[in-house]
Amino acid sequence: MIPLVDVKAQYAPFIPELQERFAEVLESGRFIFGPEVEAFEREAAAYLGVPHAIGVANGTDALVLALEAMGVGRGDEVICPAFTFYATAEAIARVGATPVFADIDPVTLNLDVAAVAPLVGEHTKAIVPVHLFGRPAPLAELATLGVPLLEDAAQAFGAPGIATTGICSTFSFFPTKNLFALGDGGLVACTDTAVADTVRKLRFHGSRDKRTFELIGANSRLDAIQAAALRVFLPHLAGWNRSRREAAGRYAELGLGESVELPLDEAGHVYHMYVVRTNERERIAAALDEAGIASASYYVTPLHLQPAMAYLGYEPGSLPETERAAAENLALPMWGGIGVEQQERVVATVKSAVGVVV
Ligand SMILES: Cc1ncc(COP(=O)(O)O)c(C=O)c1O
Repeated sequence: MIPLVDVKAQYAPFIPELQERFAEVLESGRFIFGPEVEAFEREAAAYLGVPHAIGVANGTDALVLALEAMGVGRGDEVICPAFTFYATAEAIARVGATPVFADIDPVTLNLDVAAVAPLVGEHTKAIVPVHLFGRPAPLAELATLGVPLLEDAAQAFGAPGIATTGICSTFSFFPTKNLFALGDGGLVACTDTAVADTVRKLRFHGSRDKRTFELIGANSRLDAIQAAALRVFLPHLAGWNRSRREAAGRYAELGLGESVELPLDEAGHVYHMYVVRTNERERIAAALDEAGIASASYYVTPLHLQPAMAYLGYEPGSLPETERAAAENLALPMWGGIGVEQQERVVATVKSAVGVVV
C-alpha cells in the first residue's frame, strides 16, 4: 500500500527523542501553558519572521480568534476562496461576518486578484487568502487592494514569503500538515502587537491573569505535550519541505505530465499536497486503488455550494474556475521522504490508466 501521506514514516525516526521530551513534560507536571509552549511560540515566530506567535488548540480556532482580534464581526464582509477546506469560511460565519467568495486562478488554484478586486466594498473588513496545497497566495497583489489580510496558512508552514504581509496568519498542526503535531494544534502569527495581545487574551477566556476577564473569549490552548513534539519537528521542517519539492520534481521527470496536468512549479511551493488535474480522474483513481495506491479529490463540493452556505445564495456556475478545479483535481501520494520506487509505481499506474504506453 502507498498512502496519500505517510505521517508515521516522517516521525518514526524521532520516537526516542519524542519519548525523552514527553518524559521531561511528565516530570515537570506542566501541561497547560508553561515553558514548552512559550519556547515553541518563540521558535515558531523566529522561523516565520514575525514578532508574535500564539499557540491555540487547532487551525480552525486560530482563524476564529484572529478574525475576532482583527475586529471582524456582525455586518462585516470577508472575501475568501470557495476552493479550500470548509473551516476558512466557517470561521468567518462563526464570528458573525459574511463570507464573500471570489474565484480562483486556474493555474495556481489560489485567489485570483482580478476576481477579488470587484468584490471589495464598504463592508469589506478583511481578505482571507489561503496558501492552498502549500503554494503561497499572491500576497503582494492582494495587499494593493488596501484591505487587511488574514492568511490561512494551515497548509503552508515553512513556505517562503508568507506570514509577514497579513495582520495575522493562521496555521494548523493537524497530523498530515507539513509541520504537524501528534493530535490537534494551531498557531496564530501576528505582525501587529495590539492584535497579538488580543489573540493571547481571547485564547484564554479574554483574560491575562485568570482573575480579570476583559473579553468574551474561548478556551483554546496548544498543549505542552504537543508543543514539545512540535519543537522536535520544527528543526526538520526545512528538510521535509525540500524533500517534498524534490519529489514534485521527480514526478515531472518520471513523465507524469504525459498523462495528467501537473501543478505549476514555483520556488515557494511546499507541496502540502501534490495535486494534478485531469478529466479522467475516476478512471485514474480506480486504477490507483486497484494497485494499492491512495489518491484523493479535494473540495469536490466547493464551499459556496455547501448546504451550510446556502443562505448566501450562490448558484452552481457562479464560480466557474472553482467548480472546474473541484471536478478535475486529484491528489497523489506526497510526503517528506516519499521513496523513488513508490513514485515510479504511482506514475506507471497513472500512465497505464490513461493508455500511455509504459
Ligand atoms: C485551509 C485550511 N484551513 C483551516 C484548517 C483547519 O485546521 P484544523 O483542522 O487544525 O482546525 C485546515 C485544515 O484542516 C485547512 O486545510
